[in-house]
Amino acid sequence: MCGVVGYVGDRDCTDVLINALSKLEYRGYDSAGIAVFERNKIVVEKCQGKLKNLVTKLESEHKPLGHCGIGHTRWATHGEPSDINSHPHGNKRVTIVHNGIIENYRQLKDFLSNEGYSFESQTDTETVAKLLDYYYDGNPLDTITKVVTEIEGSYALGIIFRDFPDTIFAVRKDSPLIVGLGENENFIASDVPAILKYTKNYYLLEQDEIAIIKKDRVKVYDVHHNLLNKEVMVADWDINSAEKCGYEHFMLKEIHEQPTAITNTVSPRVFDGMPNLEECGITVDYLKGISRLFIVACGTAMHAGIVGKYVIEDLARVPVTVDMASEFIYRNPIIDSSDLVILISQSGETADTKSALKLAKQCGAKTLSIVNVVGSSIARESDMVIYTHAGPEISVASTKAYSVQLAIMYLIAFELSYAKEKISLDACKEYTSKLMDIPNLITETLEHKNICQKIASKIMNATSLLYIGRGLDYALSMEGSLKLKELSYIHSEAYASGELKHGTISLVDDEMPVIAVATQDRLFDKTISNIKEVKARGAKVILVCKESANVDDDIADYIIRIPATDNILMPMITTVPLQLIAYYTAVHRGNNVDQPRNLAKSVTVE
Ligand code: G6P
Repeated sequence: MCGVVGYVGDRDCTDVLINALSKLEYRGYDSAGIAVFERNKIVVEKCQGKLKNLVTKLESEHKPLGHCGIGHTRWATHGEPSDINSHPHGNKRVTIVHNGIIENYRQLKDFLSNEGYSFESQTDTETVAKLLDYYYDGNPLDTITKVVTEIEGSYALGIIFRDFPDTIFAVRKDSPLIVGLGENENFIASDVPAILKYTKNYYLLEQDEIAIIKKDRVKVYDVHHNLLNKEVMVADWDINSAEKCGYEHFMLKEIHEQPTAITNTVSPRVFDGMPNLEECGITVDYLKGISRLFIVACGTAMHAGIVGKYVIEDLARVPVTVDMASEFIYRNPIIDSSDLVILISQSGETADTKSALKLAKQCGAKTLSIVNVVGSSIARESDMVIYTHAGPEISVASTKAYSVQLAIMYLIAFELSYAKEKISLDACKEYTSKLMDIPNLITETLEHKNICQKIASKIMNATSLLYIGRGLDYALSMEGSLKLKELSYIHSEAYASGELKHGTISLVDDEMPVIAVATQDRLFDKTISNIKEVKARGAKVILVCKESANVDDDIADYIIRIPATDNILMPMITTVPLQLIAYYTAVHRGNNVDQPRNLAKSVTVE
């Protein structure tokens, strides 16, 4: 949800800003812009559309030459995507880039209008730029402090003042911002991948801290202007993790990274063959006392939670409620200090999930987050955190982050079931060992690329699709369906196959392909009956089942046979062909796979 960058050093600032922005486009790609000091003057270049439009503009018109500047890639909230609404905003004296939402911008705009300011854009951000100008008295630190006490909402701001052509100022509240620390050069960025090419060292800015960044030093102050001694963080993501490395798209690369991501996430949490989450504050004794669980998340992360519910309830017999964060926060949920609320989030910055965390804490519940981005808000604000080790996920549509979230769901389920004496030590070890074998099975499953590609070519012109399954297959299908929608823009719906006959089957005809997932032995025959029902109504059926499934080839138009493991773990394998089908459908339709329309990876607005 908007990417903010900044650079000060000896390199060509424009080149660095463009490179850094290219690593943050996952946060939004409606427009892009930069502001660079050129001979002590602030030069702004910005335009609607993806970063490549800005690059073309710079090449054909004017590329600012300088060594200090800020940049932005936008996901529009206030004001349509347009040249005028693109960041940076400001004037010749002070120019800013912003990620977040200024909630009281109308009042500020009225106030500033009365003071004689005029506004070009429809953005909330422009009011902050003008407010900075209004208060500017030659002292940026004082000015920024005054402004942040007046603005309400969330912000990560990169600010430059004409009078300080070698300095970037930065401040944040409820939107992430880091300060990258290089050798005689420094950076600001919304996220680590933007700086990885240049440095792995960074400061995490905390709420309302103000950073003053020059090429040879960085000073960070609290709101009372006390100079802070910040801890240097070191990113453990390597530079290749933010590059395509020969793959056509980040999504395809990330699908192939799943075996490694799962191993990296699971192995450090297994000791003597048993899951062990003690380093995250979760002990067997603590688990013994849990009587119910809430899982709250958005999008793909919420789908991981739904699989978690099926697994935890089945094995540990502990009731689990799964909520979309955006609903949880307004439905007055009944939770108290005896509850554990699990928040799942790849980015750790999703606004709805953050609000859910806040609410859970207000209710006195214990909170555990499952997060990919180290040091993100949700990770820091929850009582306990389990980091998934997927590495940076750049493609907007989540794949490897989902798989590692599932992996953690399984570890929790296994340990909880053992703690609750629902499974024996040996059974727990056996499940855990099977989980550790999943990466090999995914590698085998990736060999099914060709059939997925072929299926994609058959469904690419459909206007609507159904995903059907029962139990865990249904839970998993929700994610398969979301992937297809996000990437191909084809409507699809995941439906519990047993429920089809109660209404939705009226939609089925020869125009509607049906993807049937049937990997659960206990439910297999029932799903096969449902396949027959939709086939009888003309549907083309794609069946995803275990290699070993005893089924005639003519039961479906296409059958994807995937490696088998314990039923309970099958979602970890089944997700792969569904990801590939969505991926290739988008490719066949000529869509932008890594940056689907209207989406952003990190949604930091409610
Ligand atoms: C956005 C993304 C989804 C993601 C969801 C939750 O909607 O487009 O892919 O699943 O946010 O994100 P989180 O970072 O909290 O997992």
